[in-house]
Amino acid sequence: MRLKKEKDVVILAHNYQVPEVQDVADFVGDSLGLARQAAETPHKTILFCGVHFMAETAVIISPKKKVLIPDLEAGCSLSDSISVDDLREWKKQHPSAIAVGYVNTTADIKAELDYCCTSSNAVNVVNAIPEDKEILFLPDMFLGAYISKMTGRKNMLIWAGECHVHAGIKPEDVQQKLDSMTNAEFIVHPECSCTTPYLYDVAAGSYNGRQVQILSTEGMMKYVNQSSATQFVIATETGILYRMRKQNPDKTFIPASEKAECQYMKMITLQKVHDSLMEDKYEVKVPKETADKARLALERMLAIS
Ligand code: 13P
Ligand code: SF4
Repeated sequence: MRLKKEKDVVILAHNYQVPEVQDVADFVGDSLGLARQAAETPHKTILFCGVHFMAETAVIISPKKKVLIPDLEAGCSLSDSISVDDLREWKKQHPSAIAVGYVNTTADIKAELDYCCTSSNAVNVVNAIPEDKEILFLPDMFLGAYISKMTGRKNMLIWAGECHVHAGIKPEDVQQKLDSMTNAEFIVHPECSCTTPYLYDVAAGSYNGRQVQILSTEGMMKYVNQSSATQFVIATETGILYRMRKQNPDKTFIPASEKAECQYMKMITLQKVHDSLMEDKYEVKVPKETADKARLALERMLAIS
């Protein structure tokens, strides 16, 4: 904490970070919230406790600031599910389509996008695009299916990518947990493969008579904080349960699957955060030309909440 002050550093941490890292952060939030913090912070250095594409996003949004990540190997299986060559080829096949990419993409991919979005504003981003325009949505197929259902958009092509953590939460895991807590509300991240069977019910407001909410991680936090329910089954990476329990000590939260841990997020340890502060490592860089192009898609994302 002393180093952080002396060096004028702000620590941003994603909701999936380990508890001790969340506890030293100035802000804990979802991809959209952290991108907003990166844009607004007056501090000279951002120490980003999350995965690499998030730190790159901070560099693109705040090119004059130094952005550090405690471990450069903290990647993301979802962002790895499309390469820039794949995207260029896809765009070539649909030359008049609008390319909308999830924030879980590399800077090179963002530089090829018309719009960027996160799980919390994807519906509004797609709704902002004229109806007659074909959309290429990438890279998450479950989020894409959810967005297409919620917006009623038929001319939306969806890349077949997935996050191994969310795709690994199976409907059977979920059903077992729901059966063990019959009064619990069910909260689901749209990257989950178990989202798909629930979509029709969710659009109608319930699942087998039970309340279901499909939300981004920050949407989940806001929802459980204000809900009068006292029990929740949470289908996302398990790191968020620490913050939910901390802010709601009288409520009960159980994960839909205990196995839903992102090993990339967990690569950021308190020791590495300390070393990063001490030694100013590892600086994340994005070439200027890539950053200038990618910024347009990100600024459009930030303008739509
Ligand atoms: P959000 O926090 O934006 O909902 O994203 C979840 C995620 O998987 C980030 O890697
Ligand atoms: Fe990527 Fe999935 Fe990990 Fe999020 S949880 S960082 S989408 S691999």
